[in-house]
Amino acid sequence: MDRKNTTLGEFIIENQSSFQYSSGELSKLINAIRLAAKVVNHEVNKAGLIDILGAAGDTNIQGEDQQKLDVLANEKFIQTLKNREIVCGIASEEEDDFISVNSNDEKHQNKYVVLIDPLDGSSNIDVNVSVGTIFSIYRRVTPIGTPVTLEDFLQPGVNQVAAGYIVYGTSTMLVYTTGDGVNGFTLNPAIGTFYLSHPRMQFPETGKIYSVNEGNYIHFPQGVKNYIKYCQLEEGDRPYTSRYIGSLVSDFHRNMIKGGIYIYPKSSVAMEGKLRLLYECNPMAFLAEQAQGKASDGFKRIMEIQPTELHQRVPFFCGSRKMVEKAEEFMAAQKA
Ligand code: AHG
Ligand code: MN
Ligand code: MN
Repeated sequence: MDRKNTTLGEFIIENQSSFQYSSGELSKLINAIRLAAKVVNHEVNKAGLIDILGAAGDTNIQGEDQQKLDVLANEKFIQTLKNREIVCGIASEEEDDFISVNSNDEKHQNKYVVLIDPLDGSSNIDVNVSVGTIFSIYRRVTPIGTPVTLEDFLQPGVNQVAAGYIVYGTSTMLVYTTGDGVNGFTLNPAIGTFYLSHPRMQFPETGKIYSVNEGNYIHFPQGVKNYIKYCQLEEGDRPYTSRYIGSLVSDFHRNMIKGGIYIYPKSSVAMEGKLRLLYECNPMAFLAEQAQGKASDGFKRIMEIQPTELHQRVPFFCGSRKMVEKAEEFMAAQKA
């Protein structure tokens, strides 16, 4: 079969048998995410019209309240997953607590929990710059048919069954892994179908792009400052190019295709950095590793961190393997 003509729907069915103990539940779950992605994509594309159709806080023509896109994306993903009754729990960056989905009802035998960052790069919404959605899927650790608990969500990233993102960019793409490489699908908006456009995505071993918010430079640890200066030095293949969109999904996506490193370090004003371990760093780390890249907190592997709270933050160094290793060398040199 011509892989380029494969739709996401076909790909999911074709690959179902490769999951261990597959019962089709994970396939259904990824299908639900595919559907929610299309709904959110439709909303994202209308974002610039909000002033014309009614600003946030107003009531639209159907009498519904107009909502900010991040709130809306949150609702759409949660609704889709809840309505289809294919997960037992959901945790979202936009919600204080996790949501239990009929998990105490014996009829519902669902075993997966989903963690989402429904709208990543939200500061870019009003300025027509790419935003995204990030998702992460785990098997629950408590018994099926009993209410989900915090324990089901506080699992290290190595336990992920699947993870991915949607980038609402010049085209809309869904990129995901189930632990057997990373595949990217591009939405044909005319017919609402995702096609396999980027099979087996891989980070180049090294690259020439560094992505970090240098406005915070003065607050960065010395190791990060030194690494940034290294990137800027005229030597060998350097200086590197600086590219920072402010939307992790978009920065990651570009760096995976072109080769690069994304850094959100801790700083003297944000001791744990900014990014969330469960909704942002773990899924991106899983994708990075599946694409031959690397993800660490500057010292150790992101996916081996044992989470202690839902909204935990962590410093994040992610991208082409050799670049992350070089940044880690600079961090280690300043540790003592
Ligand atoms: P979110 O919109 O989900 O809150 O995430 C924003 C994150 C990430 O996507 C981005 O790379 C980073 O925050 C940007 O932060 P700064 O504006 O501090 O650079
Ligand atoms: Mn985010
Ligand atoms: Mn967000």
